[in-house]
Amino acid sequence: MGMDSTEVKRLVAETVVDRVVRSGMKVGLGTGSTAIHAVRRIGAGIAEGRLTDILAVATSFESTIEAQRLGIPLRTLNDPDIDGHLDLVIDGADEVDTRTGFLIKGGGGALTLEKLVEYNAGRLYVVVDESKLSRRLGSGFPVPVEVIPAALRAAARALEALGGRPELRMAQRKAGPVITDNGNLILDVHLGDADVDAHYLETAINSIPGVLENGIFSRADTEIWVGRADGTVEEVEIG
Ligand code: 5RP
Repeated sequence: MGMDSTEVKRLVAETVVDRVVRSGMKVGLGTGSTAIHAVRRIGAGIAEGRLTDILAVATSFESTIEAQRLGIPLRTLNDPDIDGHLDLVIDGADEVDTRTGFLIKGGGGALTLEKLVEYNAGRLYVVVDESKLSRRLGSGFPVPVEVIPAALRAAARALEALGGRPELRMAQRKAGPVITDNGNLILDVHLGDADVDAHYLETAINSIPGVLENGIFSRADTEIWVGRADGTVEEVEIG
């Protein structure tokens, strides 16, 4: 019997933290059920004295709360000792296109801060289990788009004009839509069967008025690590 999905997520996240996080680094803390294991591993390293002089920037309320609980020193990207740039970020993803290394993120609604932090880091390490790997971006997961509330209908029409089928993300255990950490709404855009140009789409979606950010991450040098139920972890070969 192999490992269950939680164990696999923990294994891949911890393996990558141990490989790449060193004392003195400025690190971004990802969001979600995989990235949280990386946050906890960094927290344990600090508590045990293996990691010193770490400064962290969180990508959501979730990672902020966990970092505070663990005593990880938190800053914002604007703080003078961060000055808008991190050494590295470790985060999960909802879908990884193994042909290009492009990602869909934002299943947890944290895409705007995640992209801000991850496009301003020297290295981005993505940690996933096998279920996230695909050969066509958008085939496994819709693209989350954060829109300001006033733009909801107009942005939905513009996303339809780009060939997508937007769906307002609804909250659970709260009436009405999901409200993001930034006070906005999320449209989950189903792309259908077309083989989209993800790099083009990332830019095109962001030029719709009222769109704050979208969950396509086409950063070129992303390093992707996969954990498998047989207990192995390896870097995904892109191509
Ligand atoms: C949050 C994200 C997460 O990284 C993504 O949703 C993956 O989460 P999980 O590891 O729980 O599957 O982008 O906005």
